[in-house]
Amino acid sequence: MTHPLIYFDNAATTFPKPPGVLAKMVETYERTGVSPGRGSYDLAVEAEDLVFDTRKRLARLFGAPDPNRVIFSGNATDALNLCIQGLIRSGDHVVSTRIEHNSVLRPLYHLKQKGLIEYDLIPFDKMGFVDPHDIVAAVKPNTRLVIVCHASNVLGTIQPVHEIGPLCRRKGVPLLVDAAQSAGVIPIHMDDWAIGAVAFTGHKSLMGPTGIGGLVVHPDLDLQTTRYGGTGIDSESPIHTQDYPHRLEAGTINLMGIMGLSEGLRFVLKEGIDAIHHREMRLLTRLRDGLSPLERVESYCTQDLENHVGLMTLNIREMDPGDVGAILDADFDMAVRVGLHCAPLVHEGIGTFPRGGVRFSLGPFNTEEHVDRAVEALSQISRTKL
Ligand SMILES: Cc1ncc(COP(=O)(O)O)c(C=O)c1O
Repeated sequence: MTHPLIYFDNAATTFPKPPGVLAKMVETYERTGVSPGRGSYDLAVEAEDLVFDTRKRLARLFGAPDPNRVIFSGNATDALNLCIQGLIRSGDHVVSTRIEHNSVLRPLYHLKQKGLIEYDLIPFDKMGFVDPHDIVAAVKPNTRLVIVCHASNVLGTIQPVHEIGPLCRRKGVPLLVDAAQSAGVIPIHMDDWAIGAVAFTGHKSLMGPTGIGGLVVHPDLDLQTTRYGGTGIDSESPIHTQDYPHRLEAGTINLMGIMGLSEGLRFVLKEGIDAIHHREMRLLTRLRDGLSPLERVESYCTQDLENHVGLMTLNIREMDPGDVGAILDADFDMAVRVGLHCAPLVHEGIGTFPRGGVRFSLGPFNTEEHVDRAVEALSQISRTKL
């Protein structure tokens, strides 16, 4: 199917999906769409094998030692909640950053409002990076968890989690990494980087469908069960199974989502994470260079685009970002994301709160022609008389 639309909202969800993802989901579901791990008949075993195979491939992707500690969830938000709620206790302190998405900020705020916890949010510098030493300096004796967003969904900056992990380990505090924007485009080596848990979502750069994500938990870290129910094992006991992955998975798993994620993962590994990232950064550089002569365009990304993913937020001076997005849609058939991008503190930090900005986020199916058309569109809009 061809889309007249030029899609620049890949940081929200990648679109379209690689050829084969949806077909594979339908084909596999038609053949083995039974409840995995719940029956002894051949089809149930086959479905469970597919689920376990996907856990194994995800464990390899994230450099995690144990595939049984790959927990499937609905999305990254769900996975972050699983970890935050499964670890933090009354009286605890948490260190996180001002670059986080609401999927971290809101669970923390909720626990604080209930009078259960305190937290500190470390600011980012002018370039959009958080200093690892500021993070560890904020660790207190009662700090239970450090949470860092790997790649910012507003600024595109990649935080040095490979440095933060070992520093946290030295302090005896686990690091939870929000990999919603990095999984599939930036390598992650959980074991080598001393990361306690990684939350990912399937529908962004892992190229799967919506409704599937997960939490990878290092064997050094144990999380309490926060959702209880059927697991298909130990059914005689009133106590929820404490073995991983079922300890953190209750009820029937999203088999169709896992089938799609598995196929998305196949695409990512075939193309190569580094190759996808490199290509997206080449397009982002072209976009940045094309926009640089436009005096009214103000972009919020680092000058050298080092340690960056393929997205950029900008504004056209004296124009509302909502209006820019509406013109891009109506007159140029371009999809972008405007507003605060669920990361209000990032916009506060760059001085764009509360209006936010216009985000262009690139995916594997964007082309040079798309970028050139975006430059032309912004050039025309920025020539609009005030
Ligand atoms: C940095 C970041 N964290 C978390 C999320 C939440 O992902 P999901 O909506 O798949 O739960 C997003 C989604 O945009 C994100 O950009």
